Amino acid sequence: MTTEQIHIVRKTWRKLMAIDQAIIGDLFYSKLFADHPELRRLFPKDMGQQYLKLTDMLTSIIAGLNNFSSYSDELRAMGKRHVNYGVKYHHYNMVGDALLWTLQKGLGHEWNDDTEQAWAACYNTLVEVMTEGVHV
Ligand code: HEM
Repeated sequence: MTTEQIHIVRKTWRKLMAIDQAIIGDLFYSKLFADHPELRRLFPKDMGQQYLKLTDMLTSIIAGLNNFSSYSDELRAMGKRHVNYGVKYHHYNMVGDALLWTLQKGLGHEWNDDTEQAWAACYNTLVEVMTEGVHV
């Protein structure tokens, strides 16, 4: 990721979280489960605060983008836990698509090619580290 892309990701994420964490989380999971109903069974029946886990984790990762390597161990451990949740490698694309869709809806006219590329780079970096050494 370039410095400019880090800046774009930070700025747009801050904006999105200021809307409402629960609404953004709800939008994300609704889109994910509408497109891929088979993923619903991997998650607990009561989604309760589930959206907080994803958005809080993204908030910390985004805060640390300049110093990404210091998160690597944590991310790799998280990737291993995801194997136990039944997550397969191809699911990461589904989640990535739902995330980008959510960002696009939430950001409205601020969404453009640069924003899309910055987020795609961010998500790909994240997934690369999370799935390092994980065989699924
Ligand atoms: C960059 C991508 C992702 C991030 C940042 C992320 C983040 C998280 C976090 C923070 C948790 C809480 C538990 C833990 O830390 O182990 C979690 C749980 C979970 N995630 Fe992810 N996740 C990602 C990708 C995915 C994908 C691709 C799937 C596949 C559908 C998925 C499915 C789940 C499930 C099923 C749980 C456990 C729910 C539960 O039983 O409470 N995640 N995720």
